[in-house]
Amino acid sequence: MKAMEDLFVSLYNSIDKYKKKEYTLKDKVNCGKTIRINGVTMAIKVLGTGSFLPEKSVTNDDLAKIMDTSDEWISSRTGIKSRHISIEDTTSSMAAKAAKKALKDSNVKPEELDHIFVATLSADHATPSTACEVQKEIGADHAVCMDINAACSGFLFALQTACAYAKAGMGKKMLVIGVETLSKLMNWQDRSTCVLFGDGAGCAIVEADATRNVYIDAGSNGAKGGVLTCEERHLNNFLVKDESPMQQVTMDGPEVFKFAVRMIPKSVKKVLEKAGVDKEEIRYFVLHQANLRIIEAAAKRLKEPMDKFPVNLDHCANTSSATVPILLDEMNRKGMLNPGDKIVLCGFGGGLTWGSVYLEW
Ligand code: UT7
Repeated sequence: MKAMEDLFVSLYNSIDKYKKKEYTLKDKVNCGKTIRINGVTMAIKVLGTGSFLPEKSVTNDDLAKIMDTSDEWISSRTGIKSRHISIEDTTSSMAAKAAKKALKDSNVKPEELDHIFVATLSADHATPSTACEVQKEIGADHAVCMDINAACSGFLFALQTACAYAKAGMGKKMLVIGVETLSKLMNWQDRSTCVLFGDGAGCAIVEADATRNVYIDAGSNGAKGGVLTCEERHLNNFLVKDESPMQQVTMDGPEVFKFAVRMIPKSVKKVLEKAGVDKEEIRYFVLHQANLRIIEAAAKRLKEPMDKFPVNLDHCANTSSATVPILLDEMNRKGMLNPGDKIVLCGFGGGLTWGSVYLEW
């Protein structure tokens, strides 16, 4: 314990940012009880981002030609105007294309990656994992690869996993991907759900870095999981015969809506409290892109202006685990993010699950 405490003190004193004051054993003990020390040791920085959207963009008017819906209904209820739908890309191929862009953006060689975490609920295979497929495609020969399924919170959980690996000294340069081919899981007869989703991939390459603060919040409520489901694999063996077709996504939209509006401000406030940062200091709140009305309600509850809440669901719709990294990459490419910017990422959805990450760009 003593050695651990001394390590915290030396760590704290080694960071320029905190050198305003020489930390003592007393400070260390106090700090050790707070998340601040945890944050310092959980540090990562984002080296680069990438994303990929399938070429085919399908507008609301296009959908109105094949089902009883309208641009007016979809845009006024959700803010969505169009979504990308894959004709030839798979979950793995989109993930790999996004990864190649992130490698270029971050100037990292594939063989430098020690881990690949892929968040997805729409993997091409049960095995090999999407992460292993990406490894093969980009030549990240030294990476340990795994998939994580936490639906729309998936990227946040994968990023938090990367943070934990950094903290444990188990990962240095890690590729974190969110990718979905939701079009293959949709019931295209169910207009209340299929119009909301799209396909795409986004990712970030992160590096363990003790000078950057990262704080996290996460939670799950399996008891409420029935409001958003996609049964893909049912019992079917020589004792039990069930050859009924696999089900597609079903959702109680209003229930998920209520959950999201309640959960986002709660989780964001928690992470800010842990970070000891005022909401006014946050440059951007990068939220899961499910519905513009959800984002507006969260902004209102947090009493923060909408210009701090970037939106791209108008042209991407809801790509589940991929929304946050796709948006982050768009922001990065537009030059919206400057070194030191304080940002909060937040995801929520199936499971039910939710997760937030505070980080400094
Ligand atoms: O990543 C998390 C995933 N979850 C979500 O993103 C879902 C969050 N929830 C939502 O975004 C909203 O609840 C929805 C957009 C799904 C629905 O919005 P709403 O304002 O709660 O609409 P509603 O469910 O109350 O539907 C109202 C009406 C119904 O007609 P009646 O019964 O009032 O006559 C529906 O049949 O709208 C009808 N409707 C449609 N009409 C035209 C449902 N879908 C459509 C459609 N086009 N696509």
